[in-house]
Amino acid sequence: MNLAGKKILLGLTGGIACYKAAELARGLVKAGAGVQVVMTEASRHFITPVTMQALSGKPVYTDQWDSRISNNMAHIDLSREADLILIAPCSADFMRKLVHGAADDLLSTLCLARPSTVPLLVAPAMNVEMWENPATKRNADQLRADRVVLLGPASGDQACGDTGLGRMLEPDQLLEAVSAFFQPKRLAGRHVMITAGPTFEPIDPVRGITNLSSGKMGYAIARAAHAAGATVTLVSGPTALQTPLGVTRVPVTTAREMHEAVMSEITAYDLFIAVAAVADWRVASVSEQKIKKQAGQTPTLQFEQNPDILASVAALPSPPYCVGFAAESEDLLRQGAAKREKKGIPLLVGNIGHQTFGRDDNALVLFDEHGHQSLARASKETLAIRLIEEISRRLPAKT
Ligand code: C5P
Repeated sequence: MNLAGKKILLGLTGGIACYKAAELARGLVKAGAGVQVVMTEASRHFITPVTMQALSGKPVYTDQWDSRISNNMAHIDLSREADLILIAPCSADFMRKLVHGAADDLLSTLCLARPSTVPLLVAPAMNVEMWENPATKRNADQLRADRVVLLGPASGDQACGDTGLGRMLEPDQLLEAVSAFFQPKRLAGRHVMITAGPTFEPIDPVRGITNLSSGKMGYAIARAAHAAGATVTLVSGPTALQTPLGVTRVPVTTAREMHEAVMSEITAYDLFIAVAAVADWRVASVSEQKIKKQAGQTPTLQFEQNPDILASVAALPSPPYCVGFAAESEDLLRQGAAKREKKGIPLLVGNIGHQTFGRDDNALVLFDEHGHQSLARASKETLAIRLIEEISRRLPAKT
């Protein structure tokens, strides 16, 4: 994640999720951002300015009347200096204050005083009943109407013992959202479907055949496409990865399920990126019962060909722009160009080396009708952003 040179004003309001804001500040700084923390009085019951100062590397502002600011206009100066304001956690009461344009403490005043060019992102955090109360719902709707971006909340266990919506998003999800905010919106208005991960082809109820795909590259591309402004559906084989924020995940297990999930919806999409390592074959007759071990005998499996999802999409009468992936163990340059032709697709992405499975980095070669071009080794996150840039450049204009 790269936030080098970005100035983030991080506001904390009263809520137990303040403990997560410490990790968030750390992550923002690690990503290269300059972080200025502003805390309300209530937030200081949960975490001290000393902690936030140590993590952000800057004195924290808490008071509207702070003589450290030469003109004593902290609310003006701080809001002008920020590229983005993030309130995390944002309490129910602070949402109310934003809705009404309150200006009775430093944080609410600087939000009100911010220039229209400074985006305001808020991460609500509260008890489930508070979040679901019609009053909060009205406030959330009004904030959206006022072009404030609401991040979350998530659902799950709450500090008070309840379970439900109201948990603040995790620090890494908030970091992702902030980073996405700064990406150019090259895919705004586009619908993108991505396949990712391995497939699992059963042999019997407890055994199956799969491969080493971790799903990391496909998930990184889904994240990058969402950050570029697209509406993204991720048809995913079994992985342990977290669904990227704002992305719709359709979980599948077998190649045939993946084929069905893709083909039933694909006509509504502009772009299809097939990253999944789909099993080429499935076991012809899956045993309903666990196959028993018998002394001296080994079972023989018969296989059947799985549908080629990418080729099926590319063969549609008016297909979306199709991007395929290839992991060849030899002669990638020749195999890649041939595979692009064979699949009937405009762009094929080759993994350089077939040892990419499960790793956090990768190196790619892009094959199109003009030839090939390399994307140097980098993290899968960085490569995904680069790839989305390359795809957007080639994507035909919307008709
Ligand atoms: O033919 P090969 O498996 O090497 O092609 C890889 C590309 O085709 C990848 O983009 C993969 O997601 C896609 N594929 C598919 N359905 C299959 C096999 C591969 O969509 N059954």
